[in-house]
Amino acid sequence: MGFATDDFKGKPTIAILNTWSDVNNCHTHFRDRAEEVKRGVWQAGGFPLEIPVMSLSESFMKPTSMYYRNLLALEVEETLRCYPVDGAVLMGGCDKTVPALIMGATSANIPSIFLPAGPMLKGCWKGETLGSGTDMWRYWAEKQAGNLCDDSWNELEDGIARSPGHCMTMGTASTMTAIAEVLGLCLPGSTSIPAVHSTHARMASACGRRIVDLAWDRATPKAFLTEAAFRNAVVTDMALGGSTNAIIHLIAMAGRAGVKLTLDQFDEISRELKVIANIRPCGDYVMEDFYDAGGILALLSQIKGLLDLTCPTVSGKTLGENLEGAEVCNDDVIRPLDRPVGKAGGTFVLRGNLAPDGAVIKPTAAEPHLLNHRGPAAVFSDYADLKARINDEAAGLTADHVIVLQNAGPIGAPGIPEWGMLPIPDYLLKQGVRDMLRISDARMSGTSYGACVLHVAPESAIGGPLAFVQDGDIIEVSVDERTIHLDISDEELAARREEWKPLPPRHKRGYGRLYADEITQAHEGCDFRFLHAGEDTAEPDIF
Ligand code: FES
Repeated sequence: MGFATDDFKGKPTIAILNTWSDVNNCHTHFRDRAEEVKRGVWQAGGFPLEIPVMSLSESFMKPTSMYYRNLLALEVEETLRCYPVDGAVLMGGCDKTVPALIMGATSANIPSIFLPAGPMLKGCWKGETLGSGTDMWRYWAEKQAGNLCDDSWNELEDGIARSPGHCMTMGTASTMTAIAEVLGLCLPGSTSIPAVHSTHARMASACGRRIVDLAWDRATPKAFLTEAAFRNAVVTDMALGGSTNAIIHLIAMAGRAGVKLTLDQFDEISRELKVIANIRPCGDYVMEDFYDAGGILALLSQIKGLLDLTCPTVSGKTLGENLEGAEVCNDDVIRPLDRPVGKAGGTFVLRGNLAPDGAVIKPTAAEPHLLNHRGPAAVFSDYADLKARINDEAAGLTADHVIVLQNAGPIGAPGIPEWGMLPIPDYLLKQGVRDMLRISDARMSGTSYGACVLHVAPESAIGGPLAFVQDGDIIEVSVDERTIHLDISDEELAARREEWKPLPPRHKRGYGRLYADEITQAHEGCDFRFLHAGEDTAEPDIF
């Protein structure tokens, strides 16, 4: 390999786990950043080794990158365990890479620091700022309504992703990297830095220097991932108006650290705290504006009364010490607590006979009149059925209908894909309808919006009540009461359950078989059962 003994003798070996690949548009700068990390590791007296791990490109994986989150987590855990590694730099950003890297490093419990990819620069079309995902969904509806030509659509595509970096709305990537920082795993303020800023390169070198100290100190992830740190993360998620995906990921990450986190804890905090980050899809701005307004440290300074500031972080200081000097430079982007972005909190949890184990909704991203709604169900048995029939005018859907998608959960789809922003029929779009109440056991992209009830548990594919909904059944959702109710008698529900037959298993072998056998439901984090926290993995006897 060309190293001399003095290059590594007596030095901590630092693994730089790089999720770069040609197929991951969000991580195109990671080859440069890995070199900058190495520079920092050498400077601090460590020995850097770059090791590629699975890339998880959100835009290109089928059925969904979520299907592979646990596979990357397992790869990270075993990579850190099998090589002689003293510390790790976790390079991620694109959606599922963040929880996967942290879950794997937590289980391996090797000293680690998270290097966030940073958001891409803001998009633009004809002078209008474009936000990742959010504005494409919005213009897609206009295109389906016949208000946008193909040429304009192509211009939008060219204008929306103009630099390296992850989606620059408050999607899953921006949410999860911010959460990684609040959990104490990132350098202070690092998660808001746009990917292409020179500050981002300097931050990468700083990560390289810092991980060497963490390795000497044996400061492992579990030292930071405490119950208090996870509560801080939930508070921050609600103040950000974060992606609904964060709930699943946080529960899974907490599970790896041996911390019990429940849906009710999210709902409880969302009742006391409203969204103060004015970022799309809940607000007006994008992440570049957030950074210029002071970034995550400025936001945390607004809610510090709700945080446990004594939590340790990889900087060597407490969370509270990291916030010293943080200030809001634009209080329209980062609002004070008494001037929130909307009337509602970040994510609400609904329960009822349609979702005994819970479901979630992001009220700030929905049209307010749909938050307490009663209407007839229009049921689609799976995604293929939805695609085939949603635009069939003969079905006669109205804006009052509740669109229901079955078999889109962890096992049903499989992989609980981001199908939850179910399409509104073209003929209703042409009438000007832009939101409807929609219910599924799927997830939705953090960049998406609408009155979408998600993560219904238990899912329909394992006999959850969503499987028994029929066309015309009346469904009532009350966000005020936090309820979701299928208006049929208990006897009728029981009779339909008797009639129900599960679909045959999709996979007889391979990863799909492992996934189906071991995946947990959305309210449990969708981790594999055998990867939950427990005793440390035994080393092979031979060593
Ligand atoms: Fe990578 Fe959105 S596509 S974060």
